[in-house]
Amino acid sequence: MEERVHSRIDPPRHGLDPKDLDSIWEILRDADGQFIPPLSARTSSVQSDLIVSELDPDGPREYFDSMRTQYFLIARGTKGRAVGFMSFRKNYRLPEEASAPPGLYYYVSTVIIERAHRRQGLTREMYELLLEDADHHGHGVATRTWSTNAGHLALLEQLGIDVVHTIPDGRGRGVDTLYLARPPRREAADDGA
Ligand SMILES: CC(C)(COP(=O)(O)OP(=O)(O)OC[C@H]1O[C@@H](n2cnc3c(N)ncnc32)[C@H](O)[C@@H]1OP(=O)(O)O)[C@@H](O)C(=O)NCCC(=O)NCCS
Repeated sequence: MEERVHSRIDPPRHGLDPKDLDSIWEILRDADGQFIPPLSARTSSVQSDLIVSELDPDGPREYFDSMRTQYFLIARGTKGRAVGFMSFRKNYRLPEEASAPPGLYYYVSTVIIERAHRRQGLTREMYELLLEDADHHGHGVATRTWSTNAGHLALLEQLGIDVVHTIPDGRGRGVDTLYLARPPRREAADDGA
């Protein structure tokens, strides 16, 4: 039988369920070096200065601690184990220089799928669910990534989440920081407007 849409993704929740803490930590730790810069070189998931040089020997612990109080979408494998996640904040405002309408956005701070579960459409599903929820609440969706992250950028383009601001060499020489956004589509459904 065909799976219903989003059946592999939990609805958005605030904070992490204690039962998922170990899996999410392992996913984050395994993907640490795939980020530019590595997550273990960052002090938080909202840090703006991303040219850094020192790696934390404890891995991305500080990043994890700053991330775990945000909102989450969790992607689950067949046995219910978390195999990936998206963390996001609400009520985010884009940098003033961004070429996008002002307003409130959901800001995706981290998205990771375990290597063995990549290219199965899980991240696409998480974004689709997030976009639906953001539409419903009158928010846009924004994120940022580095300019050589071809896989993530390809997906964002397919979803209509476009580059709205570039910081040249923001991640080091030849690697830009890109802000991407899809503006709010309509007013919140429950505000009477
Ligand atoms: C980026 C990442 C989250 C994508 O997750 P995913 O679940 O494998 O992505 P999906 O399966 O939903 O991909 C959907 C589409 O995006 C594009 N895409 C995704 N990964 C790609 C890659 N490595 N190369 C080219 N295109 C890619 C493809 O068009 C894909 O559709 P297709 O498989 O039918 O061709 C995953 O590769 C990852 O965890 N990377 C390391 C962490 C990271 O870079 N996170 C983003 C920065 S915050």
